[in-house]
Amino acid sequence: MRKKIVAGNWKMNTTPAEGVELAKAVAAGTRNVDKSVNFIVAPPFTHLSEVMKVTRGTGVAVSAQNCADEAKGAYTGEVSAAMIASLGVEYVLLGHSERREYYGETSATLNKKMALAYANNLIPIYCIGEKLEEREAGKHFEVVKSQIEEVVFNLTAEEFSKLVIAYEPVWAIGTGKTATADQAQEIHAYIRSVLKGKFGEAADQTVILYGGSCNPSNAKELFSKEDVDGGLIGGASLKADDFIAIGESF
Ligand code: 13P
Repeated sequence: MRKKIVAGNWKMNTTPAEGVELAKAVAAGTRNVDKSVNFIVAPPFTHLSEVMKVTRGTGVAVSAQNCADEAKGAYTGEVSAAMIASLGVEYVLLGHSERREYYGETSATLNKKMALAYANNLIPIYCIGEKLEEREAGKHFEVVKSQIEEVVFNLTAEEFSKLVIAYEPVWAIGTGKTATADQAQEIHAYIRSVLKGKFGEAADQTVILYGGSCNPSNAKELFSKEDVDGGLIGGASLKADDFIAIGESF
């Protein structure tokens, strides 16, 4: 049985005070949800410390949205994996398409970030996914394969056993256009087969999340698919009720 995860990527939204209220509401709402569902919230860096305080002991885990690709030193504006981990944060999103697209993150950058995340005992949630033109050209399998080969294939078996993958087709992010459950299943199964080719049966335990306009109305169908182990939620994670309802969709 694979872990079920619903993770909320708040992106650059909420003030720290609003974030604390949202985290409290999520923690309160998850109390009645089946304990097999693992909730994670990923607020901006400025919120992490306070959000840790209100989620501690509630079963809601916390993730950062990014970390620096260097360990420490003269890198103005960056936040290191060690700083994040020192707060008790458990996860870090790496390779989100918005970071690849707007901040030029490449596989080379992501290999450095992955190594630092593991060195600091953070669990990476590694995001992959194709753009609209790549899907239309039938290149989506090829794209996700390279994103996996160039980064995930560099992990040790021990590191890989902890990794979470999030498949987020760029054309479905914030667009209201969700991949159909069959499209999601097709590519999730493919992703698992690529992982199996390198890491063998360990890939049967890898949690693969779907992300992209996932909401309370479509989550049930998506999560009913064999290889869809949960969701990475953007917009709908900013409303505690919607986020919880997605968690109740398994
Ligand atoms: P939306 O749920 O807003 O489409 O965002 C998905 C996402 O990018 C989560 O990381």
